[in-house]
Parts: sequence; C-alpha cells; structure tokens
Amino acid sequence: MKRARIIGTGSYLPETIRANSDIEKMVDTTSDWIFARTGIEERRIAADDELTSDLATKAAERALEAAGVTPEEIDLIVMGTITGDYPWPATACIVQNNLAAKNAYAYDVSAACSGFVYALSSASDFLQAGRGKKALVIGAEILSRIIDWTDRNTCILFGDGAGAVVLEAQDTERGIISSHMRSDGSYLDLLYQPGFGAKHPASQQGLDERLSFLKMQGNEVFKVAVRSLTEVSQEALAANDCTVEDVSLFIPHQANRRILEATAKRLKLTDEQCFINVHRYGNTSGATIPVAIDEAFRGGQLKEGDLLLLAAFGGGFTWGSTLIRW
Ligand code: ACO
Repeated sequence: MKRARIIGTGSYLPETIRANSDIEKMVDTTSDWIFARTGIEERRIAADDELTSDLATKAAERALEAAGVTPEEIDLIVMGTITGDYPWPATACIVQNNLAAKNAYAYDVSAACSGFVYALSSASDFLQAGRGKKALVIGAEILSRIIDWTDRNTCILFGDGAGAVVLEAQDTERGIISSHMRSDGSYLDLLYQPGFGAKHPASQQGLDERLSFLKMQGNEVFKVAVRSLTEVSQEALAANDCTVEDVSLFIPHQANRRILEATAKRLKLTDEQCFINVHRYGNTSGATIPVAIDEAFRGGQLKEGDLLLLAAFGGGFTWGSTLIRW
C-alpha cells in the first residue's frame, strides 16, 4: 500500500521567553489568572529581525537533517501559516529559496490553527497520487506581530514558533492512514483578523481601529473547539475501525489546557495518551502540532508501530484530524 510516511521531524522556537509575569506588566491581568484559565506559563517571541520564513527554514533544516534528505530531493513544500512574511507571495516560496530546494514547488495553506493538518493532508494526497516522492510540510507563525498587546482577552494566549516534517511516499503500512478535514465559514467573526485584506485595505482609520490585530470571542470559540475536536477525532477512529484504546498518542492543537482536557475527557483518553506542551509555548497556531510531534518523537514518546492521532481547530472555522501509523 502506498502511503506518505514521516521520515524526519524538526522544530525551532525563538530564544526570547515571555512569561506570564511579563504580561502582568503589560495589561490588567495576573500570572495566576492566565495559568488557571489557559495552563500557559510562558511563550516564545521572535526577535525583531526574525521572519516567519526564518523560523520555518530552521525547523525544515532540522527535519531534513533528521530524515537524511537533501533539499534537492524535495518535490513539494506545503506550509500552514497565517503570519507569512508578506500577504503574498507564499512564504513557502521564500523557504524554498532559503533551502535551495530547487526541484520543489511550494505554496501556503491558510487554515489558521488547522494549517498544519490541512497542509499535511494536502501533501499526503499528492504523494499518494504519485505526484512526487518527498515533501516538506511546515507549520510556522509569528503571531506576536498580529496580537494586540493591549487586549488582555487575547494577548495572553499566543506565541511564535515553527515545526516541520519530511514525508516520503513508500509502499508501507506505516504513515498517514487517513485525513478528515472540515470547515464552517459561518463562524468567521468569532476569530479573525479584520484588516488589511481586500475588505479593509490598509488605512490610517484601520490602524486607529486596530483592525490589523487578531479578534476573538474566546468563550464561543472554546465551546465549538471542544465539540469539533472531539467529533473529528471520533470520525478518524471510526473510519479506520479503531478505538480510543488503540491510540498510542493524541496530539491535539495546543490552544489552551482547558480545551485539551475537555476534549480528552469527552474522548475518554488517559493523561498518558495526551501530549501537552502548551504551558511552555502557548498557542503557536499552525506550529503547535509539528512542534509537538518533533518533541514527542525526540523525547521517545513515539515508537515504530504506534498509532498517532492529530486533531486541530482554528479560525474559519476549520478543523481536522489525521491518523498515522508511526
Ligand atoms: N486577565 C484577567 N481577567 C481577564 C482576562 C485576563 N487576561 N481576560 C479576560 N478576563 C476577564 C473578563 O473580562 C471577564 O470579566 P467579567 O466577568 O468582569 O466580564 C472574566 O475574566 C471572564 O472572562 P471570560 O472570557 O468568560 O473567561 P474564560 O474563562 O472564557 O477564559 C479564555 C477566557 C482563556 C480566552 C477562554 O475563553 C479560552 O481559552 N477560549 C478559547 C480561545 C482560544 O483558545 N483561542 C485560540 C484560537 S482557536 C484555537 O486555537 C482553538
């Protein structure tokens, strides 16, 4: 059976740590409130001269090295991001140039926090269809540049980072078994960046109204996120005649600890089955899942034959799950 298998993982987190105690000095909040409501203790913030493409390139280089694959061998680069270097062209093209991956075609996927699982699904389908042998799939964000650091409802949640995997088409039982993607555009205004796209082009008025910053109705997002993550995870298991007990590791999008725990409880997953690192990085949107895969693998939590379940949820709304035989 031809499947896309993950043969290398990598991640990169900027050096600067912004702890809850630092945010206490910026808005009317407390470290204890942030930790109690989100489980987040600290997050990473990119340096002023760092770009999303820089974070992505470093994560990709580490994944290529782990896979023992040269940039020239890559046929396809797909990147999940909502904080690319430019509105266009795709940041994946900048990464392609940075890596000198001369033989790859490259594009971005805009699916907010679901960006990586959407990108993974897309690349996997291309490889299964025989349209290339090796792909690089990246999730990378500098959310700190679209966060309103005067808004205590949102600025406590997010951070910067990047993760990447190398996929190879192989005749194997291992690899990506199935992907299940969903969207519902009717929820647009619960989580979005109002400016500066075609609806609200860049303007002084838009700046004054802070339209270039992420807006969110946290309570509503929370409810739909838990329901959707649960349902799409169940869908992946049912489609493959698997049960919750079969899952070796569940890596959900690291939005906040309460969403993760509520989802795990509904799915009846044990603590040992769930990977959580949101306390160290906050919500890095499209980067949370590939960073977590890299940390889980390098930390010995993923072994050959394990069943890995990924689930993501984000703006759009978009959500999705991926089942992988490691
Ligand atoms: N510090 C102190 N108080 C605060 C803060 C803060 N940082 N933020 C809000 N509050 C106050 C509110 O003003 C409100 O006060 P009030 O009762 O006087 O009006 C009170 O705390 C409760 O506010 P809620 O919004 O109801 O707090 P909630 O328990 O829902 O927690 C949170 C807010 C953490 C944002 C939560 O709704 C959440 O996690 N939502 C999910 C959002 C999310 O993860 N989005 C990420 C993108 S989507 C994704 O990745 C899944």
